[in-house]
Amino acid sequence: MQKPVLTLGIETSCDETSAAVVADGATVLANVISTQIPIHRRYGGVVPEIASRQHVESIISVVETALQEANSDWSDLSHIAVTAGPGLVGALLVGLSYAKALAYSLFLPLVGVNHLEGHIYANFLAHPVRLPLLCLVVSGGHTDLIYMPEHGRYESLGRTLDDAAGEAFDKIARALGLPYPGGPEIDRLARTGDETAFSFPRAWLEPDAFDFSFSGLKSAVLNELNRMQQKGDAVPVADVAASFQAAVVDVLVTKAVAAAVTKRVPVLYVAGGVAANSSLRQKLQKAAQARGIEVRFPPLQLCTDNAAMIAAAGYRYWRAGKFAGLDLNATANLPLSSW
Ligand code: KG4
Ligand code: ZN
Repeated sequence: MQKPVLTLGIETSCDETSAAVVADGATVLANVISTQIPIHRRYGGVVPEIASRQHVESIISVVETALQEANSDWSDLSHIAVTAGPGLVGALLVGLSYAKALAYSLFLPLVGVNHLEGHIYANFLAHPVRLPLLCLVVSGGHTDLIYMPEHGRYESLGRTLDDAAGEAFDKIARALGLPYPGGPEIDRLARTGDETAFSFPRAWLEPDAFDFSFSGLKSAVLNELNRMQQKGDAVPVADVAASFQAAVVDVLVTKAVAAAVTKRVPVLYVAGGVAANSSLRQKLQKAAQARGIEVRFPPLQLCTDNAAMIAAAGYRYWRAGKFAGLDLNATANLPLSSW
């Protein structure tokens, strides 16, 4: 039997230090994630300098643990895939420098992966994927509808013009006095709230546009909170959370399903941290089903930041012979481009 191609993936773009070993771009042998969330929670959000320092402290043990869990040795690896951007530049540089040092010393090819394409490729680890693929990427940094006719070719159908969906969740949670990250907190609280209690705005933008905007919604919620606080009214936190979440989910669902109809794809794939949202999962399934479209979400651990998704994308670069040099640099706002 042929030996599998093992990719070592490294991800340090934000507040998770992660390393993974993936076989043939499809089977996760190890996916170690060391989260910094408890550290950043004290400050109500990610502090970039602290994130970089924590990555420095964790990266070596995270990579070594991934190799151990995968029952693999350095000599089993065929290449190294690392997130080159977008993300916090100081945080990215830690993973990138370590990946470069490993590639140099082990004589292994290096590939640089875009974090956004990593999120899309999480789907290849979770279920069989047929191309062309349409993916809604919803995370703390992105809200994008991406059409992918083949590996490495991306067409942006729409994206947020201001805040990302996860960013809006985190900012509203903060205003409601909830801990960071706010998405899971709002998701949990919303289950006990009335989503019709407040009618917050939905930004539909141009007819048939697949772009998103969440800053108007964010301002409307903050204004409502100010108004209640000034009047001395108790804030019905669960109702605000539920009504806000309903406004975000409404727009995401409507636009994603419309894009799937326009592109005539039988399956809509979802990725990114906000794909963990229970209401989004439920409502998207229902709306898509009504149009005969299937929806596939990766399991929760592959939705939020992880290195297995970076390895899955990196394997495709390796197969295409698209290697990076040791001059590969971290780019904070790296655009998703075809290769
Ligand atoms: O993909 P991810 O781990 O990191 C980025 O690339 O940004 O996504 C993190 C984001 C955060 O904004 C977090 O609040 C949000 O995903 N998130 C959620 C849920 N779980 C995580 N948002 C809504 N509902 C959730 N259950
Ligand atoms: Zn992410």
